[in-house]
Amino acid sequence: MTNSMVYTLASTNQITPSSLDYLEADGSASPNQRILPLSAQVNEHDHLTIGGCDVLDLIEEFGSPLYILDETTLRTACQQYRQAFERYYPGESLVMYASKAWNCLAVCAIAAQEGLAIDVVSGGELLSALQARVSPEQIYFHGNNKSQHELQQGIAAGCRIVVDNWHELKILSALAVSPITILLRLTPGIECHTHEYIKTGHIDSKFGFDPDQLEAVFAYVAQQSNLHCIGLHAHIGSQIFELQPHQDLANVLVSWMETAKRYGLPISELDVGGGLGIRYTETDDPPSITDWANVVCKHMIKACEQANVPLPRLICEPGRSLIGSACITAYTVGGQKTVPGIRHYAAVDGGMSDNPRPITYQSVYRVLAASKMSAPLSETITLAGKHCESGDVVIHDAQLPPLAPGDIVVIPATGAYNYSMASNYNRVPRPAAVLVHNGQAALIVERETDADLIRYDRLPPHLQV
Ligand code: LLP
Repeated sequence: MTNSMVYTLASTNQITPSSLDYLEADGSASPNQRILPLSAQVNEHDHLTIGGCDVLDLIEEFGSPLYILDETTLRTACQQYRQAFERYYPGESLVMYASKAWNCLAVCAIAAQEGLAIDVVSGGELLSALQARVSPEQIYFHGNNKSQHELQQGIAAGCRIVVDNWHELKILSALAVSPITILLRLTPGIECHTHEYIKTGHIDSKFGFDPDQLEAVFAYVAQQSNLHCIGLHAHIGSQIFELQPHQDLANVLVSWMETAKRYGLPISELDVGGGLGIRYTETDDPPSITDWANVVCKHMIKACEQANVPLPRLICEPGRSLIGSACITAYTVGGQKTVPGIRHYAAVDGGMSDNPRPITYQSVYRVLAASKMSAPLSETITLAGKHCESGDVVIHDAQLPPLAPGDIVVIPATGAYNYSMASNYNRVPRPAAVLVHNGQAALIVERETDADLIRYDRLPPHLQV
């Protein structure tokens, strides 16, 4: 079955395909072009399996809701990025995992084992990368308002610091007793088509030095003997399917590098950021990891040839396209409600607290009936979350089989910006996460307990009766 057929079937109610069609449609070897993880299958009980583990057994063992992370998919995406840069770029290259997508010990450890460096944006992310035994020189510390304490943590760790603005630059210059290695983040002034909240490269962006400040920044840095500036960085946005912005970015970065060299800055690293999109639904059509890397490398080589400068160490820092498609979230169905002639709701035991993307960006997901994969998708059901907001809807008008309380449904492509943006809204504990591989499941994040929820509350004496 082709992808477009799935879309047609999933968006009308005339024919009744089943959740199996999602599996059949997932033909690409590039994880970011698939809706489900690479290891997704169906077993003899008609249940969905990931990493050789029956989703229903996982729920039985680890509880619901549950993030299920497929190790094969994550490792494959890391390898595809690295291999593509090695193949298409004759100079040195570095692939970094933008850990904001999902920063936890196990994920940082896997990325590092696959030879990736780690991008962190806070003292907390830095701490977990270090705890995962990532070596400090493989950590790049980003962020647009790093506190003095965080900058001190970065200096103490010995990681590379990507300086975002004058405030940070001056604090660093005052703090560093011996030379520290920095990169500068600049706003490239490049537009891309994605959600307004996740664009970062346009001029009116809170991130990076304004290009008008370029020469002043370079002149200042050149005078600070304790700031060793080796690289320039820009990031244009997230969930991007176009390749053109990356072509433009290479030219901009190389021209900045030339300007920096005029000020005596020994720029040897250019970091093009991340941003490659993934397939949440059949209408999403991102380039493969390999094609994206090819374009990035080709344009960097071309820009350097045109400027007649040696190839820099080329860095990229994807997040979503490394981990997004590697994870699914499994929920248990609870109550249902029919509004006659209008809508049928089925509520699940999670929602905006474990996946805030639908309510934040109006993101659209797909859903599969994990406990009855071949059942006809005969119903149009709005999957509601359990939180006290009408907007807490996981999916509007999804095609599903009839659901009963206790049925397990899964939402694919929840690896990026789900756990990392999860909250305790309505004092709902955050779910557990398991890593699955070859029929084995390992807990990587424990489920929060009720006790965790009130752990930081204090009752002042006058309220204790
Ligand atoms: N580098 C920098 C400097 C970034 O700001 C980001 C993402 C990345 C790399 C990784 O971008 P990616 O490859 O994941 O697109 N919460 C939003 C996404 C925010 C992205 C923030 N920056 C969402 O759920 O869509």
